[in-house]
Amino acid sequence: MVKRIGIIVGSVREKSYSKSLAKAISGFFPEKIEITTIRIDDLPLFNPDLDQDASLRPDSYERFRREVKAQDALIVISPEYNRTIPAALKNAIEVGSRPMTDISFNGKPTLIITQSAGSMGGFGANHHLRQALVFLNAIAMPQPEVYLSEIHNLIDKEGTILRADTEKFLRMVVKNFLGFAGLF
Ligand SMILES: Cc1cc2nc3c(=O)[nH]c(=O)nc-3n(C[C@H](O)[C@H](O)[C@H](O)COP(=O)(O)O)c2cc1C
Repeated sequence: MVKRIGIIVGSVREKSYSKSLAKAISGFFPEKIEITTIRIDDLPLFNPDLDQDASLRPDSYERFRREVKAQDALIVISPEYNRTIPAALKNAIEVGSRPMTDISFNGKPTLIITQSAGSMGGFGANHHLRQALVFLNAIAMPQPEVYLSEIHNLIDKEGTILRADTEKFLRMVVKNFLGFAGLF
């Protein structure tokens, strides 16, 4: 039976390294896993007033919730912005967190990958994301942790991994995640 993994990318920038990583990582999964990128760039700023009125609720809120719920597991790949997660990603979390009786992220095994141009690999973003996911009852994989520093030295804008040890590490992460999520 086909299993589904959804990738949410925290950067909406066109030539994003997070997008490159999503492309590269997608190639590491077995064929029986269907990988979908779930877009967040079309989600209007979350407003409970819009959400409570079906005639005002943006279609993209429904689309995002439906796509997240359809996945067996999730991967979030994000840069760090100002020592936390980018606003676009936090906004998507807000959208997926409502209604509280039907949280889209509920029970989803989730792989968190953060990256940055600097030396800390988005540590702050990684752990802020874990904090939010706890409240949504998503199950973030504890180990291995993935903080990719100096990302420009590890992957190019086309999604080609530049270092053999980085590829080996990411393949190991994917293998561990498949086991963690029960998708072997
Ligand atoms: C508004 C803004 C804030 C940033 N803040 C941080 C930060 O706190 N820590 C860090 O390591 N990098 C920070 N960066 C750098 C990005 O994390 C880095 O350039 C990242 O690789 C961009 O990811 P992307 O290519 O997927 O968009 C910031 C970048 C921007 C635009």
